[in-house]
Amino acid sequence: FVYQYGKDLIKLLKPGEDELILDLGCGTGQLTNEISESGATVIGMDSSENMINAAKEKYSNIDFYVKEAANFQFEEPFDAIFSNAALHWVLESEKAVISMFDNLKNRGRLVLEFGGKGNVKIIIDAVDKILKESGYPEKAEIKNWYFPTISEYTTLLESNGFEVELAQLYERPTELTDSENGIKEWLLMFGTVVFKDLNVEVRDQIIDKIQEEVKGRCFINGKWFADYMRIRILATKK
Ligand code: BEZ
Repeated sequence: FVYQYGKDLIKLLKPGEDELILDLGCGTGQLTNEISESGATVIGMDSSENMINAAKEKYSNIDFYVKEAANFQFEEPFDAIFSNAALHWVLESEKAVISMFDNLKNRGRLVLEFGGKGNVKIIIDAVDKILKESGYPEKAEIKNWYFPTISEYTTLLESNGFEVELAQLYERPTELTDSENGIKEWLLMFGTVVFKDLNVEVRDQIIDKIQEEVKGRCFINGKWFADYMRIRILATKK
């Protein structure tokens, strides 16, 4: 689903045929490939070696690198940096903004979308509540993601040399693929930091309770949804 929504963001990128573009947090490379079909030269980077290996295998005509968003350097500066559904994993947000700035040409552009303020709030509130009720209040304090407001993020960009042309925060409820246990599967996939030290039985009981807690708001017409909020940014290096 991340991939489908990202196609929309490529329209905002408008890749030019002679451009050099970085796909930051490219995962397994579907969107990198999509961008390259426009004729632009695209490079993919991701912090996960597994993802990059999968991307290299699928798209052998594209260069992919394992690099951290908070501290990366390429030899050639880019015309544009594109990033979909990745920057909420980077807690060192200012370092990521500085790295993006350093790797862009003058007047190079940023086209970004990731989780913004309020992202998966229904799920996070339920996780906190059930963890506290189950005797694990310290785990409820673990903050795993960066979900800024528009003003927070645009201020960060402006104070690091960018002009912001577009900043939106919008609701994008997203259907989860597992129609029976959508929230449980989502938590197992993305909640690893919070649940990692619990024994499996306790973890599964907690996850069951969380799913039950959010059911009234996240199970709609027989389908599970995550309450995603997206921040979308178009900015230019001054
Ligand atoms: C997302 O907003 O795409 C997301 C947020 C937290 C975990 C996984 C995905």
